[in-house]
Amino acid sequence: MTQTECRAAVGRVIYTSDEISGAIERLAAEIAADYRRKPLLLLGVLKGALCFTVDLARAIAGKADGPSEMMVDYIVAERYGSGGSTGGEPRVRMDCKLAVASTNVLIVDDIVDNGRTLRFVRALLAQRAPASLRSCVLFDKPARREGAVPVDYRGMEVPDVFVIGYGLDYKEEYRNLPYLAELREEKAV
Ligand code: IMP
Ligand code: MG
Repeated sequence: MTQTECRAAVGRVIYTSDEISGAIERLAAEIAADYRRKPLLLLGVLKGALCFTVDLARAIAGKADGPSEMMVDYIVAERYGSGGSTGGEPRVRMDCKLAVASTNVLIVDDIVDNGRTLRFVRALLAQRAPASLRSCVLFDKPARREGAVPVDYRGMEVPDVFVIGYGLDYKEEYRNLPYLAELREEKAV
């Protein structure tokens, strides 16, 4: 009997690079206005928010009269195993370096799916007594949300499919795609 296995491939494009840039510009304008003349720490949740954090930081810097100073740091969180499937509970693999206490912190994440990761990261940072704590998410996949998750700045909604590109991976691949696409499984005989 022939063994049939699945191979991953890039499927249909969900958001083009231009659409992603447009959403980031809109978010950056909102954030720049809200943190006008205040210091701001952008805290990217890696690795998924790799591209988004950098592009958002640059877009905010491009707005006239935004934050008085901006710092960028990262936290490496993981939940999805390297197998690309939904994994266990979220955990921090690498903590941020900059102090969170008495700071205006904006968590920057790639996508909120069932919401466990963002809830976990928010709770962790809240314990450190920041001056303020908000979150900004580029892609929102609301279909499998487990309870409410506070998202203060929301980019674009995505359907309930596994997406890749613009920082999001499948088994560590495809993060480098400049657009967001659906992962397609192809049957390879
Ligand atoms: P959640 O805990 O289910 O909300 O998922 C959070 C994290 O899982 C996100 O920050 C992503 O890094 C990853 N993730 C969720 N959905 C996808 C997807 O469709 N493709 C790739 N990564 C995803
Ligand atoms: Mg993420």
